[in-house]
Amino acid sequence: MPIQDYHDFLDKILIPEDRLMARIAELGAEISRDYAGEELLMVCILRGGVMFLTDLMKHVTVPHAIDFMAISSYGAGARQSAGRVRLTMDLRTSITGRHVLLVEDIIDSGHTIAEVLNILSLRQPKSLKVCTLLDKAERREVEVPIHYRGFVIPNEFVFGYGLDMDEYYRNLPFIAVPDLKRYRPPQPDLEGTS
Ligand code: PRP
Repeated sequence: MPIQDYHDFLDKILIPEDRLMARIAELGAEISRDYAGEELLMVCILRGGVMFLTDLMKHVTVPHAIDFMAISSYGAGARQSAGRVRLTMDLRTSITGRHVLLVEDIIDSGHTIAEVLNILSLRQPKSLKVCTLLDKAERREVEVPIHYRGFVIPNEFVFGYGLDMDEYYRNLPFIAVPDLKRYRPPQPDLEGTS
């Protein structure tokens, strides 16, 4: 069955493209002012933060490199002493002695960013800060520092602009809320390979 057209289950557009772009330009300018005279490593946590990183870095005028890391969340009940997320792809570059800015699409419970901060702080960066496009503040379970924040959003499921529904729709240029009653998840193919 083909992937459903998002119009079929769109409830509302929460943040349209022009507001996203304007706010991202402001964040980039703020970051550029704060790190003036310094160099920066912008670290994106795959995969949701990719669109935000690429738009944000266009507005960051201080010299900066980028790198990527990936983590996976443990399911409820599958607690591990190391925390609730596991590093599945590490950075390629060393962060010791460097200014590091973590770039996230959304902070929800806070567990992901808390664990990433734990992991990276052990490597003794010169500084370690957090930039998130979306802050679903009502859902926070652990306190995490947020140095740059695009938008505080209500406790609603959102998709688009990097955020997925079953891995699709990340390409949409706006943040939207689905009507889940009208959403039909993608079906695995008969070979069971998707
Ligand atoms: C999302 C998002 C954050 C995390 C936030 O990633 O990109 O990394 O969840 O949730 P938390 O604050 O409750 O930990 P997700 O696991 O959906 O993966 P993705 O980025 O590949 O879509």
